[in-house]
Amino acid sequence: MRTTNLGPFTVSRLCLGAMLMGAETPAGEAHRMLDRFLDAGGNFVDTADVYGDGGSERTLAPWLARHRDRVVLATKVRFGVSDPGGEGLAPDRIRAACDASLRRLGVDTIDLYQVHGPDPAVPIEETLAALDGLVRAGKVRALGASNFPAWLLAWSVAVQDRERWAPFVSLQPQYSLVERSAELELLPFCRAAGLGVLPWGPLGAGFLTGRYQRGTMPDGRVTRAPDDLEEAVHRRATERNFRVLDELTKLAADHGRPVPQLALAWLLAVPGVTAPIIGPRTFEQLENLLDATDIELIANERERLEAPAPPPDISPQRMLRGQVGQPDVPTVHRLFTST
Ligand SMILES: NC(=O)c1ccc[n+]([C@@H]2O[C@H](COP(=O)([O-])OP(=O)(O)OC[C@H]3O[C@@H](n4cnc5c(N)ncnc54)[C@H](OP(=O)(O)O)[C@@H]3O)[C@@H](O)[C@H]2O)c1
Repeated sequence: MRTTNLGPFTVSRLCLGAMLMGAETPAGEAHRMLDRFLDAGGNFVDTADVYGDGGSERTLAPWLARHRDRVVLATKVRFGVSDPGGEGLAPDRIRAACDASLRRLGVDTIDLYQVHGPDPAVPIEETLAALDGLVRAGKVRALGASNFPAWLLAWSVAVQDRERWAPFVSLQPQYSLVERSAELELLPFCRAAGLGVLPWGPLGAGFLTGRYQRGTMPDGRVTRAPDDLEEAVHRRATERNFRVLDELTKLAADHGRPVPQLALAWLLAVPGVTAPIIGPRTFEQLENLLDATDIELIANERERLEAPAPPPDISPQRMLRGQVGQPDVPTVHRLFTST
């Protein structure tokens, strides 16, 4: 599998998400999947304290005990868990949550510690100072953000630079062919400021595998999702998204590859994308995705996939593109980075 740079790490261009491990995916199958991922050249694994209320981290622990030195390990903090209790990004809670994750994972250091989402109840400076303290204490090697709006990400990075605190090296946004809002603000900022991008939900929770069809919606993550989840049927099973699927299906046939590999290949070709986080539930689903990094799409193929479900056309981008011919923001000159 191909690799790339992320902050101080060399990571595989697919990251294996462990959200379902220890729950929908039993531990034994999860460990077989992790072994297979390593065999295929993968080295990047993403979890969070909140997945299964610590269950995902606990499921990874015995496998990590055998393979720790071969893995770039990412986890997250923000949402409610029973150990250490509570939720949010207050400094004391971040420190306690990090210790709890280290204990559950059975490791001395977390490679990439990500803030799972913003906490409006805590001044961002307090959160960033506490995260910097974890890096200085050697508990964490690098920092990332997830689900941040662009303005808060840019502000956070500016504060980290100003205070010479450990910087965010990555953003984990939702991003796929059926959810492209990240292209408007987040991706241009990450490209300009040198942050890696780790798209979650790269298959739209399974919509981009071809298993859901117009009028035939079998049991799965999408059909089971409550209305407020991102992958809820009312968001995924729309005519414009089915048109994306039509194009993916044709292109998959042309390439002789499974449909979801084409969806991943499209993401992998977006400038600035480091590694989509795949979330297979079974060993077979993982096997079906692994070769995606080999596929090269030409410009015309990418355009066919992009045409049916573009991101919203908003101002000032529309005005800058149309009247000034300026498609992206200029490079941000950061004082320092972790590389
Ligand atoms: N930062 C965040 O807020 C956030 C949020 C969500 C996820 N994540 C991370 O991103 C990872 C991936 O997210 P995701 O699970 O939403 O990703 P996804 O790849 O969009 O969806 C995964 C789902 O797609 C289906 N699937 C996967 N491979 C398949 C295949 N080969 N054939 C048929 N169906 C297949 C499965 O659905 P069924 O289970 O229905 O079979 C699986 O549960 C997670 O594990 C987690 O690490 C982060």
